[in-house]
Amino acid sequence: MHVHRFEKLWFGASLVLIVAFLATIVYGAVGPGVAMVDDSGGTVDPSVIADGNYDQVENFREPGVYDTEDGVDVYVVARQYLFQPGSSEPIEVPAGEPVTFHVTSPDVTHGFNLAGTNVNSMVIPGQIAEFTVTFEETGEHGIVCHEYCGSGHHTMEGQVVVVE
Ligand code: CUA
Repeated sequence: MHVHRFEKLWFGASLVLIVAFLATIVYGAVGPGVAMVDDSGGTVDPSVIADGNYDQVENFREPGVYDTEDGVDVYVVARQYLFQPGSSEPIEVPAGEPVTFHVTSPDVTHGFNLAGTNVNSMVIPGQIAEFTVTFEETGEHGIVCHEYCGSGHHTMEGQVVVVE
């Protein structure tokens, strides 16, 4: 059987590609892989959050800002199409102290991006996104939902105010 020279060439090239693709999968699975954010924030029952029965929720307090020993805890519900708190009133946090956000959703997947910072997370129903940030300077940061969540997605925003 005669195989044309170019046919051989392309056959070889496609084999190389297939092997390369497989290699990336193997690298991701058994190699050092890609560092993923862990899910230490815990889980939550979205229907209970939707009903606002925070006293019945194990891992999530009533939305708001709570003092901790060295900083504050901020509990935020992201829902169609607002952040509670954050949208109707800004979230006020102190500068120079660790601020731990706990964010969850009762309905669909949202985003939580703090403009001007590296705070950027998906907010998935049933999961609590948890991240800690220390704001070095006072000022205002807009909260933007960057996951399409429905017809009001573009209006879903809030504000964090960092004070002395
Ligand atoms: Cu919430 Cu887009």
